[in-house]
Amino acid sequence: MFNTEFIAFDSYAPPRVVTNDDLSKLVDTSDEWISSRTGISQRHISEGENTSEICIKVAEGLLKKSGLAPDEIDLIIVATITPDFATPNTACLVQAAIGAENAFAFDISAACSGFVFASSIADKYIKSGMCKNAIVIGAETLSKIVNWEDRTTCVLFGDGGAGVVMSRGERNCYLAEDMHSDGSLGLRLTGGETKVRNAYSAPEEADRRYLEMDGRTIFNFSTKRVPASINILLDKAGLTIDDIDYVVPHQANSRIVEVVAKKLGISMDRFYMNIASYGNTSAASIPMALAQMDREGLLKKGTKLVITGFGGGLTWGSALIEI
Ligand code: ACO
Repeated sequence: MFNTEFIAFDSYAPPRVVTNDDLSKLVDTSDEWISSRTGISQRHISEGENTSEICIKVAEGLLKKSGLAPDEIDLIIVATITPDFATPNTACLVQAAIGAENAFAFDISAACSGFVFASSIADKYIKSGMCKNAIVIGAETLSKIVNWEDRTTCVLFGDGGAGVVMSRGERNCYLAEDMHSDGSLGLRLTGGETKVRNAYSAPEEADRRYLEMDGRTIFNFSTKRVPASINILLDKAGLTIDDIDYVVPHQANSRIVEVVAKKLGISMDRFYMNIASYGNTSAASIPMALAQMDREGLLKKGTKLVITGFGGGLTWGSALIEI
């Protein structure tokens, strides 16, 4: 069995910043409501760049930072619920744009757990010896599936992307994981539904274009499942929360993280948060936080992190990684 190391981090957010005050001109809301209920102050919204274009910028940055040539990449995974096309997948669009001719490339769909699940898949390809260098990206243009007239959802989400290069190395840096799904609650958080409409079927109901969420159920699910998952993860690794330098949670809502912190018996400053600047970017949020931590010099060799994702599916999962 081989070892997996993390060798580069990068992120990209579309330049257009939309503040809470900007949103209060579109829907009946206020900076006070959004900040106090969610911790979000602003988000980046695409003015046309699609998910693949965001991913390509991230992949180009990752090649530069890792020093790898495009033909050394043998796996590209993109986690997204907002791909440009049903097919080709986003990862193939990235492969073509960066000239990674030796890579095989596919997308996975697990909403806000997408990056955690995708990094787990890449780890297995590397540990089995099948791949040496993987680009793993989480990216979304959630703005295209948000109903901009629905104040209960449009204030929560943002656009962006980020990723990592995971490579065969000397040290094992993907130390433990804990992954789950509960499809029985799946319809409490949906991102569009396309009915079967063909020569033999003409359903009366219209397709549902937009993201719809039972916020209270998702809040309760997250605050119950995330601390339990982190505890299972630490048990598997034979560590305690005191051994962890930072918990990097999916950036859904500061209030969810406050409850998780309380249940784990640790203070909020052990969690890395950047939700104030980006909102909830689903699959992109954890790698965007990692890339920002890297820019801030927080990711030193030996730093231990718990990454924990939760959301649509419903899905949730945590991984223990060492830089
Ligand atoms: N501005 C002003 N008022 C608002 C807004 C808004 N943007 N949105 C809702 N309200 C109102 C409601 O209409 C309601 O008014 P009412 O009492 O007169 O009916 C009141 O505020 C309270 O609404 P609630 O929905 O009860 O507010 P709550 O405190 O539950 O907060 C929130 C809502 C922020 C969505 C919360 O439930 C939450 O964070 N849920 C989790 C969301 C999440 O984590 N999603 C992650 C997964 S996303 C993914 O996987 C793609």
